[in-house]
Amino acid sequence: MIQHIVKQLDPLPPKSKLIIFGGGFSGQRIASLGRRLGTKVLCSRRKESSEGADFIFNTDKKVSNEVFEGVTHVLSCIPPSLTGEDPVLNKLKTQLLNSKTLKWVGYLSTTGVYGDTQGEWVDENTSPNPQQERSIRRFSCEQQWLGTKLPVQIFRLPGIYGPGRSAFESLMAGTTKMIDKPGQVFSRIHVDDIAGAVLFLINLYSQGKNPSLVNIADNLPTNNLEVIAFAAKIAKKSLPSKIPFELAKETMSPMALSFWQENRKVDNKLLCKKLGYSLMYPDFKSGLTNCFSYLK
Ligand SMILES: NC(=O)c1ccc[n+]([C@@H]2O[C@H](COP(=O)([O-])OP(=O)(O)OC[C@H]3O[C@@H](n4cnc5c(N)ncnc54)[C@H](OP(=O)(O)O)[C@@H]3O)[C@@H](O)[C@H]2O)c1
Repeated sequence: MIQHIVKQLDPLPPKSKLIIFGGGFSGQRIASLGRRLGTKVLCSRRKESSEGADFIFNTDKKVSNEVFEGVTHVLSCIPPSLTGEDPVLNKLKTQLLNSKTLKWVGYLSTTGVYGDTQGEWVDENTSPNPQQERSIRRFSCEQQWLGTKLPVQIFRLPGIYGPGRSAFESLMAGTTKMIDKPGQVFSRIHVDDIAGAVLFLINLYSQGKNPSLVNIADNLPTNNLEVIAFAAKIAKKSLPSKIPFELAKETMSPMALSFWQENRKVDNKLLCKKLGYSLMYPDFKSGLTNCFSYLK
C-alpha cells in the first residue's frame, strides 16, 4: 500500500516541483506518491478528458511556460516515437536546458535494451544488446537523454504490474492463457515499487549517489505459469489447460511473441543492496496479494 511507502521515504526538499510527462499507469502512481510526500506534482496526458491530466503534452501542442516555472524535477514515462525519437526531448530540450531550477531528470526505460540472455542475469554493467525494433528505439532514447548533459537518471523496468493490471484481470475475464515454455522466466516490478524507488532515488541523487542507470525490478524472476497458478489460487479460480509455446505462438500478436523470444533475469542489487531501497513487494506473491486486495 502506498501509505507504507510514504513512511519509509523522506520528502523531497521544500519548494520542489516535479513534472511528469506521461501520466499513465506508472506516472499517476509516482505523482500520487510525490503528492503524499508534500511535493507539487504536475502530470501530462494527451487528452484533457483523461484522468489526472494536469496539462496536455502531445506532438502538436505547446507546453506553457507556467508549467515549467520553478520546476526542480522532471520525469518522462513516455515511450519513443516510431521513428526512435524521444517525444519530450524532441519538443522541450531547449526549455529543459534553459531551466535555472532543474536539479534532476528521470527517464523510464525498459530492460528490453539488454536483449536476450537465454535466461542469464543482467545488471547495469551488462552491455545493452537490443534486438527488437522497439528496444533499439528505446536504447536510442536512453542515449539521447544521456547525451543532453542534463542531470539524467535512467530507470530500466521489466514487466510492470499492479492493481488493475495483473494476472487477475484475465483470470476474471476467463481469457488467461497458460503458455508453457520450460525455462522461460520474466522479471517484473509492482507499480508502487516504481514510485517508491523513483522518489527514493531522487533524494539520493541530491546527496551525490547518482548512478546514471538503475534497474528497478523485484527479487524473483519467475515463469508465468507459477504467477498465474498463484493468482488463481487466491482468487479461487480454476486453471485452464497448458498450451505448449510452439502451438501458442502460431496465434500470438507480433508484440506478444517478441516478449516470449527474450529470456533474462534482471538483477536489482544496485537498487536494493548498494543504494538501500527496500522493496514493498519483493516477489510476485506479495505483489499479487496486494493487487487482489483491490478486487475485494
Ligand atoms: N508496461 C510495461 O510492462 C513496461 C515495462 C517496461 C517499461 N515500460 C515503459 O515504462 C514507461 C511507463 O510505462 P506505463 O506502463 O506506466 O505506461 P502507460 O500507462 O502506457 O503510460 C504512457 C504514458 O505516455 C503517454 N504517451 C505515450 N505516447 C505519447 C506521445 N507520443 N506524446 C505524449 N504522451 C505520450 C501516454 O499518454 P496518455 O496518458 O494520454 O495515454 C501515457 O500517459 C513507458 O515508457 C513504457 O513503455 C513499460
